[in-house]
Amino acid sequence: MKTYTKIGKLKSALGEVRSKGRSVGFVPTMGFLHGGHLSLVKASLKNTDCTVVSLFVNPTQFGPQEDFDEYPRDFIRDSWLLEELGVDFLFSPDPDEMYPQDYKTYVEVKDLQDVLEGRSRPGHFRGVCTIVLKLFNIVCPDVAFFGQKDAQQAIILQRMVNDLNLGIQIEVLPTVREEDGLALSSRNVYLDPQQRQAALCLSKSLDEAGRMILGGERRAGSILDRMEKIIKGENLAKLDYIAIVDPVSLEPLAEIKQDALIALAVFIGKVRLIDNRMVSPKE
Ligand code: PAJ
Repeated sequence: MKTYTKIGKLKSALGEVRSKGRSVGFVPTMGFLHGGHLSLVKASLKNTDCTVVSLFVNPTQFGPQEDFDEYPRDFIRDSWLLEELGVDFLFSPDPDEMYPQDYKTYVEVKDLQDVLEGRSRPGHFRGVCTIVLKLFNIVCPDVAFFGQKDAQQAIILQRMVNDLNLGIQIEVLPTVREEDGLALSSRNVYLDPQQRQAALCLSKSLDEAGRMILGGERRAGSILDRMEKIIKGENLAKLDYIAIVDPVSLEPLAEIKQDALIALAVFIGKVRLIDNRMVSPKE
């Protein structure tokens, strides 16, 4: 595996790859890699000729009160894991390589960026879209891989790719979970053992929603009530938001007549966790 910190060097290495007609797969990450990230890397290795992974904790997607400084980092372990899997290129730029001092350009996907995560984290998706577009322009991948864990992010990035005619194929892979259901997340390391147990209320409430739909329930209101009860029944948990929305427009649904996205965010102590599940009335 070759590691690059400079945009120019990575671009010329990728130029050579492309001149041989090889396809390029890309997995953007903020590092502190876990099985969720690695599932995306494996998919890229399997489906493309050359896999590029980026590792960059992007300052513009964190709010002023958020955990940018505390976000977990372990470059040595990450690069070892990627090397082991057989990744071709690792791109790990310094912040001023991506955002020089007079940086002024940002990308927004209107409306979709303002709901769910965007309502709780203003400016978050502007930061995500900006960095991902910059990375796409540097790497010029044929295919880019994202996780369903961040469902809204994948929906917004797909829209950005369509709206800006980027011609990049977006693959969204299933959420990887611990055996007991907790979605893998770099932020899980902040949870103490009691909080780790409490964090199960997210996946439990989503499972309950799935069961209700299977049992014939179609009213979003009663599903959300039941999910809220499960979250509120957990002392260490504080619900941030919970919603049942259309998976394209992200507009709230009153009834589940078509595919729907159930998404929620919950604070466990200071740690903010998200999870989601796609449901269908045909379940
Ligand atoms: P990060 O949180 O590091 O996640 C990188 C990729 O891994 C994202 O596509 C995310 O959805 C996916 N992922 C995270 N947890 C997962 C899980 N349990 N199962 C499957 N996939 C999972 O998302 C970001 O970084 C950033 O916003 C980024 C796109 C890199 C832009 O800075």
